[in-house]
Amino acid sequence: MKRRDLNRLALVWALSAWAQVTPAVASGRRFAGPVWQGQPFALGVASGQPRSDSVVLWTRLVFAEADRAWQAQPQAVVCEVFADEALRQPVRRWQVETDAQRGHSVHVLAQGLQPGRSYWYRFVCGSASSTVGRTRTSPAPEARVQQLRIGQASCQHFEQGHYAAHREMAQRDLDFVLFLGDYIYESSNPKYRIRTHLGGVPQTLDEYRQRHAQYKGDADLQACHAAHPWVMTWDDHEVVNDYANDRGRDEGDAAAFLRRRAAAYRAYFEHMPLRLGPDAQVPHQMRIHDRMAWGQLAELWTLDCRQYRDHQACPDPNRGGARVVVGCDALQDARRSMLGAAQESWLMQGLADSPRRWKILGQATQMSSSGVATPLGRSSFNDAWDGYPLARERLLSGLADMRLQNALVLGGDVHMNVAANLRVRPNDEQSPVVASEIVTTSVSSRGMGESLLASIRDNNPDIRHARSDERGYTLLDVRPEGVSVVFRATPHPVQADSVLRDQARFEVVAGRAGVQAA
Ligand SMILES: [Fe+2]
Repeated sequence: MKRRDLNRLALVWALSAWAQVTPAVASGRRFAGPVWQGQPFALGVASGQPRSDSVVLWTRLVFAEADRAWQAQPQAVVCEVFADEALRQPVRRWQVETDAQRGHSVHVLAQGLQPGRSYWYRFVCGSASSTVGRTRTSPAPEARVQQLRIGQASCQHFEQGHYAAHREMAQRDLDFVLFLGDYIYESSNPKYRIRTHLGGVPQTLDEYRQRHAQYKGDADLQACHAAHPWVMTWDDHEVVNDYANDRGRDEGDAAAFLRRRAAAYRAYFEHMPLRLGPDAQVPHQMRIHDRMAWGQLAELWTLDCRQYRDHQACPDPNRGGARVVVGCDALQDARRSMLGAAQESWLMQGLADSPRRWKILGQATQMSSSGVATPLGRSSFNDAWDGYPLARERLLSGLADMRLQNALVLGGDVHMNVAANLRVRPNDEQSPVVASEIVTTSVSSRGMGESLLASIRDNNPDIRHARSDERGYTLLDVRPEGVSVVFRATPHPVQADSVLRDQARFEVVAGRAGVQAA
């Protein structure tokens, strides 16, 4: 036996010490499930929320016409984890049951894994096997790791373009994909349609399930889920455009909207590799904000900017919700919050406690100001952080007071690439830069026009780069000495065969807040 084989064998033994094989597997009995006519794993596989010893593995069964008879019965699904790509070194397997009540979704919390390494996994149900996914655990909490590679993405309107960004990310060597919201869109705009949603605007659980299943049917999106673990938060379109807390757009009252929100949250959970689903007692509540370490190199907070926020200030009296406001006194109410009091203090406490070099905030929208001067005063888009200016000031002065050197805010939502400096008082040169911001453009959703963007650039010197004409994703290479940022992009709309290129490169140097062109 060669040394390499011995090493491999030692690894298998080390891993198998963790294994608790379920009785059905230990007895060697193959589970007798359905003989499928179609592919029940047609929505693919996914993994997410990595830790140093665990990761969530996901799939969902779907039923072809010829397999409908199986749909009403509970189904047993085996999940197998391997230490190698060739699937010769089994690590563990789990058998779980799923049923129609949970939309036939499968969530396995794969525990007992080793830190900082890749694993391969697949699901089996009766005669069918899923594709093989690759995932990765985070490094040990104390490990002095030298690198973290993130693919940052958001906003993938299915109708407005193809997923070239996911196709490329699937081929990249990434530690995880960070998806910052607008995974599905509830709405349509026939003007910008190059492919078509099934069904109308979703309201019910079944309608949200159908929308998610359609998105998950995309081959490039599936490839990207199968290639890397995903770390996720949501924005508004997972429920409805511009919702805030218990207020939607069309629902007459909060109770009706919260029923819709509960359906949307549940369908979201059923389609994502997440540890926690909706609260069993209060189904319109679901905790998605989270915190994860990458050795001693970085700590990442993923934030929820929708569920707990105050309603938008100065809404349109007829339409409600988001708009550009001028002379809105309510913006200056210090009690207003984007994150809600509990999440905000959890975040600030965590930032103060973290010993890790880079403090990364993954949140849904743009934090730098994008207002423009008008004859009646400066405008504010009341749905983004500009609509919560004192909450933003609280957060950024908190960073300044803690003297955090290496705070990096990541965002999405606005369908443009942005590199910006963050100050306690936006655009005021007397106010020191306390953090750096990178907003990623949309994967496919259409961006704003160039004339508005030009005026945003002119009015906001803190914004060092802003382009809304291209789609894509952002590569972040985090190292102890700095973070390099590459905006990968392709013109709108993204065609099935579009190819991405570098739009711009930026750098954030450790110990020096602010973005610099690279
Ligand atoms: Fe979006």
